[in-house]
Amino acid sequence: MDLKTQFLGMTLKNPFVVGSSPLANTLDRVKKLEDAGAAALVLHSLFEEQIIHETQIPDFEDERYGKILAGGEGVLPAAEEFPNTSESYLKLIQDVKSQTEIPVIASLNGISEGVWIEYARLIEEAGADALELNLYTLPTHDDDSSHYVEKRLVEIVDVTRNSVSIPLSVKISSRHTSICNFAQRIEYAGANGLVVFNRVFSADFDFKKQKLTPKVLWSQPNDLLERLRWVSILYPQLKMDLAVTGGVHSGEGALKSVLCGAAVVQCVTHLMREGIDSLSTMIDEFTQLAEENGYSDLSEVRGSLSKLLQPDPEIIERANYLRILQGWSADGNEPS
Ligand SMILES: Cc1cc2nc3c(=O)[nH]c(=O)nc-3n(C[C@H](O)[C@H](O)[C@H](O)COP(=O)(O)O)c2cc1C
Repeated sequence: MDLKTQFLGMTLKNPFVVGSSPLANTLDRVKKLEDAGAAALVLHSLFEEQIIHETQIPDFEDERYGKILAGGEGVLPAAEEFPNTSESYLKLIQDVKSQTEIPVIASLNGISEGVWIEYARLIEEAGADALELNLYTLPTHDDDSSHYVEKRLVEIVDVTRNSVSIPLSVKISSRHTSICNFAQRIEYAGANGLVVFNRVFSADFDFKKQKLTPKVLWSQPNDLLERLRWVSILYPQLKMDLAVTGGVHSGEGALKSVLCGAAVVQCVTHLMREGIDSLSTMIDEFTQLAEENGYSDLSEVRGSLSKLLQPDPEIIERANYLRILQGWSADGNEPS
């Protein structure tokens, strides 16, 4: 069974990529991930806010962060709360490249044009094989139209693209009004890959302490369904490679992702909870299922399920919605 896949200009031995997280924060763990069969890994993000801290730009006038930095002690995490400094981040890239064979995708995470984007070039110089740009944001200003928000994000893709020559992927959220249009503009701005989707990490409200409590919530296998839907819809519309992240907890989930159009899956929760060795079990399950179903070459079957949402995904989604709602009988029995 040929598990090879093309992602961001690289030929990977299989579609299993370790998603951006602390999993690959040390060389020791990177080696374990490589031994467990990971085809590539995405490093933990280097964040815009962290770079703002480190560079301590005295006349920092960004509309959004300017206000926070001027009066908001404690709103943003302190510099020491980040697991890496930008210096140690670049060193980790160099170490992984010199001491392992595994392809390394670095991750930059930010939402406004600024000095942090210069780190794209430093990341390339440190030897990263590709760069993932994470545009995690939750727009809340009533004068930000969806068009304006997306325009701003696409401009960041554009600036980042022009800063590096290594392949660039962009990790987006599913909370955009018109995902296909947004994705296409990201592609026109020069991205080589799209990572669907960021999970939205919600804080809990502690009414006793009157404060917000950030929570790392693990993903659930059902989170995958939204990704499968969108990868199937996007696959025929885009030239850039697609990666699924969110809810891949099994070889079966990974196989479905590929059949819907993903070049790779990025796993985090399953590996953090079940341990790094669980990756090889997932790869085995994936291979067995693919062989049982007569797939000998992944590149031939990639995207084959996306036809289930054609010719008009919007109408088909509407039809599914109606069927799901009508499927419940008055006595509360689940649909068959
Ligand atoms: C503890 C933790 C740390 C993470 N850190 C990052 C990060 O630095 N940058 C990023 O783009 N995504 C980060 N993520 C999101 C993951 O890369 C991934 O997209 C998400 O967890 C969905 O995949 P999963 O269902 O396999 O967990 C993090 C997730 C977890 C659980």
